[in-house]
Amino acid sequence: MNDIYPPLSDGDVHIWSAVLVDTEYENQPYFSLLAPNETRRADAFHFERDRQRFVCGRGIVRHVLSSYAGTPAVELSFHRTKKGKLELPGSGLAFNVAHSESRLVVAVGKTRALGVDVEWVRPLDEREGVMARFFSSAERDYVSAGHGAESSRRFFRCWTRKEAVLKAAGCGLIDGLERMDILCDGIVFDSGEPECQAGAFHLADLKLGEDWRGAVAVLGGKAPISYFTWPRN
Ligand SMILES: CC(C)(COP(=O)(O)OP(=O)(O)OC[C@H]1O[C@@H](n2cnc3c(N)ncnc32)[C@H](O)[C@@H]1OP(=O)(O)O)[C@@H](O)C(=O)NCCC(=O)NCCS
Repeated sequence: MNDIYPPLSDGDVHIWSAVLVDTEYENQPYFSLLAPNETRRADAFHFERDRQRFVCGRGIVRHVLSSYAGTPAVELSFHRTKKGKLELPGSGLAFNVAHSESRLVVAVGKTRALGVDVEWVRPLDEREGVMARFFSSAERDYVSAGHGAESSRRFFRCWTRKEAVLKAAGCGLIDGLERMDILCDGIVFDSGEPECQAGAFHLADLKLGEDWRGAVAVLGGKAPISYFTWPRN
């Protein structure tokens, strides 16, 4: 790891945040890093903007992880679990990726399973339905106690914390989420599914500015979190 990349100690979590560009010209260097399956996925997007954001995002994920793994970005070989989580076998790294609009967040750690989520705070037509289906009564009360934009921020705070736990465990969407009360720091979670990690997860809100809500969940105790922006100058 060279001096523009911070050392990652056991137990640390590094949060990388980036803004995805959507022009082919700017993304040319990223495109050349993609594996054939990533190129095929890029080509399957209907809208060019989405294609370019995917190319940019995957290129940045490769650059960031390459610096920790000590492997050239183009040589990283990802594995995807049955539930969809990306992994880097043999790297000694745990990581997770989230996108919302033009924002990419990558959480990186060592050994401890982790999950990250980010959402742009916005009005959501289906908000009441999501709360009825997935939120506990304490979470619904918490969201309702906020007014105007604050209520949207509270909604996405709950949403991203819940998603971060699911992603740390490596699950997709599951039943019974309304029984998971995520307003506390730690949560014991067991989906009962063999492909998913069960255990006690530490939860933290990410500092991403007023218009964003994000959370990271890490297996085990409290983790020191450091923030970095891509590109790192
Ligand atoms: C797929 C899911 C893990 C997150 O999806 P999402 O919020 O649309 O997408 P995000 O940008 O946060 O994360 C996508 C990335 O997470 C990773 N990922 C995918 N499946 C994953 C899983 N089962 N576990 C952990 N990480 C996963 C992948 O790296 C993926 O990016 P990639 O496909 O480009 O590699 C899943 O939780 C889901 O479908 N959520 C639906 C949203 C919802 O209804 N939530 C209700 C909770 S309140």
